[in-house]
Amino acid sequence: MTIIAPSLLAADFANLQQEVEQVTEAGAQWLHFDIMDGHFVPNLTMGPATVAALRSKSKLVFDVHLMLARPQDFIEPFARAGADIITVHAEACIHLHRVLQQIRTAGCRPAVALNPATPLYVLDYILDEVDMVLLMTVNPGFGGQDFIPAVLPKIAALAQRFKQEQRNLLLQVDGGITPETAALVCRAGANVLVAGSAIFGCPDRIGAVNSLIQAAGIMETS
Ligand code: DX5
Ligand code: ZN
Repeated sequence: MTIIAPSLLAADFANLQQEVEQVTEAGAQWLHFDIMDGHFVPNLTMGPATVAALRSKSKLVFDVHLMLARPQDFIEPFARAGADIITVHAEACIHLHRVLQQIRTAGCRPAVALNPATPLYVLDYILDEVDMVLLMTVNPGFGGQDFIPAVLPKIAALAQRFKQEQRNLLLQVDGGITPETAALVCRAGANVLVAGSAIFGCPDRIGAVNSLIQAAGIMETS
């Protein structure tokens, strides 16, 4: 089954609770928080206080994507705020293995993200430490960017590796996901779809989530 993770980055920040209720009603299972620091990426977004404020209002899986230069300094604050999954960028971690263990110790599920230009071999010695790999399908920093098709063979190669090594890991994609690109990434082997603009940019949230689920489902059975 494909998991849909709406990215709050594209939501109406003045009405976050209502936005979360709408995507929950629409059938989303996760909520994706894009945390940006103005250093690792050229943008600033939210911090642990936003995660904590929504935690008491929602039972969705909180999927926290840290786009921070020193993620190790923020694992505990986000764990305390209510994160279920914490994703760190391989490019941001000098001691990636240690940071992933830190996430598990803090009581969360660890995940690692790779930018479009980062090769899959950086995963070689850390796959035992993660529950999910996030392959970025845009360069991180902003919502509403175009999907990068060059990542499709990378998704397929990673999905193939998981199969060969009998690893039961989630493969998430993030950036430029629409019903059209959802079909492509699911065919390649992705099973968690992050979508911001395609959901919150659409007045009919239920229809938007359904279109993504349908696009993913078509590919699973074809
Ligand atoms: C990009 C973020 C994404 C982004 C997705 O840096 O990690 O989660 O918000 O937004 P869309 O779906 O609009 O490309
Ligand atoms: Zn993200």
